[in-house]
Formats: sequence, C-alpha cells, structure tokens
Amino acid sequence: MSIEPAKLKIALDSDRDNYAVMGNPVAHSKSPIIHQTFADQAGQELFYQAIHVPKGQFGEAINQFRTMEGKGLNVTVPFKEEAYKLCDHLSFRSSVAMAVNTIIFSADGGIIGDNTDGVGLSVDLMKNKISLQGRRVLILGAGGAVRGVLGPLCDQRPEQIVIANRTMSKAETLAAHFKGNNVSACDLDKLGNLGAFDVIINGTSSGLNGELPPLPISIVSTDTCCYDMVYGDTETVFNQWAKENGARMTLDGLGMLVEQAAEAFYIWRGVKPETGPVIKMLRGK
Ligand code: ATR
Repeated sequence: MSIEPAKLKIALDSDRDNYAVMGNPVAHSKSPIIHQTFADQAGQELFYQAIHVPKGQFGEAINQFRTMEGKGLNVTVPFKEEAYKLCDHLSFRSSVAMAVNTIIFSADGGIIGDNTDGVGLSVDLMKNKISLQGRRVLILGAGGAVRGVLGPLCDQRPEQIVIANRTMSKAETLAAHFKGNNVSACDLDKLGNLGAFDVIINGTSSGLNGELPPLPISIVSTDTCCYDMVYGDTETVFNQWAKENGARMTLDGLGMLVEQAAEAFYIWRGVKPETGPVIKMLRGK
C-alpha cells in the first residue's frame, strides 16, 4: 500500500500583502528576515513566509498561493527550473537563465517569471569594487546556479570567461549557449595550463558538503579576487583555499543573496532597499 503525501495547505495573512519563498529545504532561508527588514525600511506592511513544498507539489503550491491572492513569490532549490516551465510570461533574463527565482502575479491571474540572481551577483561584485570588464574570469561549475548568472556576467564584457566543470560536457553545453561572449569550456584537469585569473567565481555546490573540486594553485595570484556563491556561518572551503593560496580578496554569497532579494523587492514594491545594513545585520555586525 502506498502512502499518500500530506496535502499542502498554505495559510496567508488576510490583513497584509503576502509574499513567500518556496523551496525544499527552506526552513533556514534568510529571505523572510531580509524582506521584512526591507519592508520596515520602506515603511510598508507585508507578510513574507518560507513555505516548504514537497517535491511534486510545486505547481499546486503556486496555484494555491495565487488563488489566495498572494502577491509574489521567490523560488529556490530545487524548483527554479520547474517555475521557469510553469510561468505564462518570462522576462528576458529568466529566459536566458532558463530558471525563475522571482514570480509576480498579474492582475488577470497570469504568472510572470523573472530571475534576479545574476543581477544580485553583479551588483554585489560592483559594490565590492570588482569589475569584470576586460578581465579574465574563471567560473567553477556548470549547473543551474551558474546558468542563472552567466548572462549578467557576460554583460560586463570580460576579456574571457572560462567555465570549468567536473563533467566537461555540461561546461561545453553552457559555453555554447553563451557563444559570442568569449565564453569557453575547460576540463578541471586542464586548468593548470591557463595561468592565473583576475576573478574566480565558485558556482559548484561542492562546498555545501565541505568539499572542494581539485584546483591547481597556479590559477590564483596575489591579484585574484575569489567569490564563492554559497555562504555559511564559517568561511567556505573554497575561500579558505583561496586565502591559503594568496588571493587578494575573498567574498561569499551572502551579499548576492541580499542583492537578489533587493531586486525582487523593487519589482514587487517599487522601492529600492538599502542592502548594506541588512548584510551587516545578517553577519551579526
Ligand atoms: P546548482 O543548482 O546548485 O547549480 P546543480 O545544477 O546540481 O546545482 O549543479 C551543481 C554543480 O556543482 C555542478 O557543476 C556539479 O558538477 P557536475 O556537473 O560534474 O555534477 C558541481 N559539483 C557538485 N559537487 C561537486 C564536487 N564534489 N566536485 C566538483 N564539482 C561538484
């Protein structure tokens, strides 16, 4: 006898505009505190919650939220690609990313998909005075997280973007998707032939398990800035590795998280939040 999965039941706040992040797992998401803080800054009333959606029930979850007149959604792992397929309309950047992390419900009930991850990364790089223009950039990983940010990174016109991935065929597919932007693919094993990069962005999920892809130290020099798209309470293994090998600067993905949220807040609420104080608060400073 098979056991039916528990029926999803979403509860909204009837007195306020409702927003949520849907994911699995999502319990530790920082998005509710980030968006409530943005709302306080703007003097706006809203309710933002994290909703754990069982796999296979994402379409139902969106429909429930829409029917109850929820205003907007963020989408996180593992539903960004499914959200992309479910939307009635897509922004240009989400169609390039083939993934949606921000949903707007239009007045006629349509689902509009957008993706603010790439702009979140670009803005965080810019605020930390890291320009990609004319620079040699290495991106580690070729999964959904990397595809989501490549468009805005190419827009900065780097001299070169090399994508290196454990599974070479995925790096090649991604590079082909962005051809014409000086993007190429490289085997992780061959990285040692390419010299030092100006900027290295780690978009692999290996750090979530405390692992690091095998990397030659020759890709780092004392001029290299390293950016890990993930973050944690302690320094990520990639950033530890970068520091040990003399990188000029290391950053983790907390800034990107707050910046992508700020862009979503702007889309929904028409106000650009101040992100600096929110990043400081989350770092406990
Ligand atoms: P995400 O949505 O986080 O990008 P994903 O699409 O599953 O998740 O992609 C994970 C990325 O991290 C991939 O590039 C993966 O490499 P493969 O394509 O070879 O699977 C990379 N990755 C995960 N664990 C890794 C490890 N231990 N070493 C190297 N790369 C790893």
